[in-house]
Amino acid sequence: MTDDRAAAVVLAAGKGMRMKSALPKVLHPLAGRPMIAHVAANLAPLACDPVAVVVAPGMAAVERAVAPWPSVVQAEQLGSGHAVMAARDRLAGVAGDVLVVYGDSPLVSTESMRRLLARRRAADRPAVVVLGMRLDDPGEYGRLIVGADGGLDAIVEYRDADADQRTINLCNSGAMAIDGRRLFELLDKVGNANAKGEYYLTEIVAVARRDGLACAVVEAPADELLGVNSRADLAVAEAALQQRLRARAMVEGATLVDPRTVYFAYDTRLGRDVTVGPNVVFGPGVVVGDNVEIRAFCHIEGARIEAGAVIGPFARLRPGCEIGAGARIGNFVEAKNARLAAGAKANHLAYIGDASVGERANIGAGTITCNYDGFDKARTEIGADAFIGSNSALVAPVTIGERAIVGAGSVITRDVAPDALALARAEQVEKRGGAERLRQMKAGGKTAPAKGRAGD
Ligand code: UD1
Ligand code: CA
Repeated sequence: MTDDRAAAVVLAAGKGMRMKSALPKVLHPLAGRPMIAHVAANLAPLACDPVAVVVAPGMAAVERAVAPWPSVVQAEQLGSGHAVMAARDRLAGVAGDVLVVYGDSPLVSTESMRRLLARRRAADRPAVVVLGMRLDDPGEYGRLIVGADGGLDAIVEYRDADADQRTINLCNSGAMAIDGRRLFELLDKVGNANAKGEYYLTEIVAVARRDGLACAVVEAPADELLGVNSRADLAVAEAALQQRLRARAMVEGATLVDPRTVYFAYDTRLGRDVTVGPNVVFGPGVVVGDNVEIRAFCHIEGARIEAGAVIGPFARLRPGCEIGAGARIGNFVEAKNARLAAGAKANHLAYIGDASVGERANIGAGTITCNYDGFDKARTEIGADAFIGSNSALVAPVTIGERAIVGAGSVITRDVAPDALALARAEQVEKRGGAERLRQMKAGGKTAPAKGRAGD
């Protein structure tokens, strides 16, 4: 292995007790994907090799989330230092740097990881480089003890820190770059005589100093280095991430009318001159073309929206939607696995599921594609320029031909030919003078004939 390619260890075996959850902590989502997937995505550009993800027994879901990176199992959770030891076999023969990152610090950027490695390679060759952050309220983070020469002398865990040390606001984020040739020799000297009785990775700094080795700190912005131990921390990390995603959307040319109320997924892509109204939520897998307008209170996931379309207010696009150029999805319209071609419109109160709607077709208010019969899903095909009258039920599988018109209130169970007019509703009955007779009957105290009896 060459010296400039690092190995990496991702720690994810902690029990996450403070989350009070059946789900492993690192699988709790941020911006639509698990925390550990954020760590993996930020680590990936460094092309570390080998990578070992340390998990606890029974964390198959975490192993799947990080595949193809291999996992190693830490049989007992005896501390973060002990966790790195679990990767010893996997890292055998590594002579370059080892980057250690925590699965519960999901926002550490690729850039900060690069800076850690770069500092390790500086002329003074510190054996351990720690990513630090300054916090106004450092809470229970480990504190970085910096010597008079500016080098790092120790990391003191909050529980083991004295009152003076607790006033230090330079904190440990968890991420470190360590000389791979010394890593395990140093870890072997880490003990567990501390408040938690754990083998702390953080003690590696004091151990290295005792061996006469230099250690260093690289600082990064605090909002990148948030550790997630509780649901409250998760909410803080989500807020920090959303802030970043909103800023990026605006930098890339979208108008967010009220940025604080727009929630993005990690992978939301917006084109130029997109306008997003207040209170819009994006789930994963959304791609939005140029000049699209997304009005207030929409919920959109798994959808491609092409240029110039107008969505909402109050629309819901579920996975598998493709909304063509200039198409319109109006208020209280839900679509799922549906393709609306260019210029198609569903402006009010409709459900369009498992359907394809041709160019310029118009879906009237209250139209429902009845895609599910309680057993199977079936598709509805609506041709170009078709017109579906209000409150129609299209019972799938069914095809409405091009330019066909379906009368309002129809229940369509058979295919409609192109250019045909389909009416599938009860014939209207009109009784001349019937209203007047009814009024007289009511005024005379008589009861109207009972309806619906046998023989009526
Ligand atoms: C840790 C640091 C602390 C730092 C903080 C930053 C230690 C001892 N302390 O504290 O200095 O300020 O992170 O967020 O590391 N893990 C295992 N196996 C174990 C124990 C932990 O894999 O046996 C993993 C966890 O999954 C987690 C990481 O190690 O990813 C840190 O463990 P955690 O218990 O969360 O440490 P903190 O108390 O947050
Ligand atoms: Ca933690």
